[in-house]
Amino acid sequence: MIDEKLAEAFNDQINKELYSEYLYHAMKIYFQELNLQGFVNWFDVQVQEERAHAVGMINYLNDRGGKVDLRAIDKPVIEGSTPLEVFEHVLRHEEFVTSRINHVMDVAEEVRDRAAMHLLDWYIKEQVEEEANVSGVLATLRLIGDDKKALLMLDKDLATRTFVAPVIG
Ligand code: FEO
Repeated sequence: MIDEKLAEAFNDQINKELYSEYLYHAMKIYFQELNLQGFVNWFDVQVQEERAHAVGMINYLNDRGGKVDLRAIDKPVIEGSTPLEVFEHVLRHEEFVTSRINHVMDVAEEVRDRAAMHLLDWYIKEQVEEEANVSGVLATLRLIGDDKKALLMLDKDLATRTFVAPVIG
């Protein structure tokens, strides 16, 4: 049976993952309105990844005899009005998520739950990939500046991203 304090940390993080899914839905819609279909695809993959992250924690908490407590998801607010600013927001958001997963790990360490630590190792590694992926797009957007042709080339590139269901844990 999982420690109650750790179950609470997981429940809070499940809410953060579902909020991430919701935020990326909002960003996907932003790019749909700009008709940048490659960016739309990139955010569609992001949406699916966040759902998988949330489901992974829901299933884990359930497997460990913890009570899953789904909470209200905040209204997503996009900070910024250009593709570059949107991606700056994505990076800030992923850094925030990383800090929250580190917090869940801190609690798992505090209550000496080795099984949870093992699971959380996966999420910590996943965050390294998430931040690197976002930073890559962001660096390209900075190079592009106001060059519309180059933006369309990046859009083509982002259209090739595919979702691969993660094996969590
Ligand atoms: Fe589930 Fe993008 O962190």
